[in-house]
Amino acid sequence: MRKPFIAANWKMQKTNSETEEFLNAFLPLVRGIDDVDILIAPPFTSLETASRLMKSSNVLLGAQNVYFEESGAYTGEIAPSMLIAAGCSHVIIGHSERRQYFSETDEVVNRKIKLALTTGLKVILCIGESLEEREANRTFDVLNTQLTGSLADVQLNDITIAYEPIWAIGTGKTASNEQANDAHAYIRDWLGKNKEGADSVRIQYGGSVKPDNVKGLMAEPEVDGALVGGASLKPDSFSQIVIGARG
Ligand code: PGA
Repeated sequence: MRKPFIAANWKMQKTNSETEEFLNAFLPLVRGIDDVDILIAPPFTSLETASRLMKSSNVLLGAQNVYFEESGAYTGEIAPSMLIAAGCSHVIIGHSERRQYFSETDEVVNRKIKLALTTGLKVILCIGESLEEREANRTFDVLNTQLTGSLADVQLNDITIAYEPIWAIGTGKTASNEQANDAHAYIRDWLGKNKEGADSVRIQYGGSVKPDNVKGLMAEPEVDGALVGGASLKPDSFSQIVIGARG
């Protein structure tokens, strides 16, 4: 049995003081919940504040991105060791917005994953197809390409996969429970054929997850959690999603 894993991806939202305000309201709402892993990934500038406020809580801290070099002349980039020093246990890598707006390829994603893991971070790897690809019946091809490239020479310990169909992100259009489960089942099968330890990898669904659809998604056998954008920005809705994932 895989423990549900619910993660918030705040994207480019919330200042330090807004992060503080959120956590002061949110942490009491989820206090004592130990049957769901809960993670928040705020912007880099809020990591220290979040880490201080979450120190003795049941909520984990993640970053939304990382670079694939340990240090040096890479203006504007952040190394895995810096994230660990700031209190992160996890990092999200390969989000479709990074692939789309910042030209991240599977090769870049793979380099980032490798350095993050060897430095001691756990990784949430995001994959998923566009609407055009789904309509052309290419979903599984796309997932195969992304998994093959992103996970080249990577072992599955400390990896979570987030299946995020691009057409469902921020659009209010969720994949149906069956569509999500079918894609997750494909991913699980791929992992089983290509890697050791596929059964214990958690596969999150992402794309317009809300308090009112989380239970249906979590009832699917291959859905182990959610990566939540818009609905994670309010303490009430994010705590309801966490509670909805408890089974
Ligand atoms: P959304 O974003 O919940 O706002 O659709 C999900 C994500 O991009 O991780």
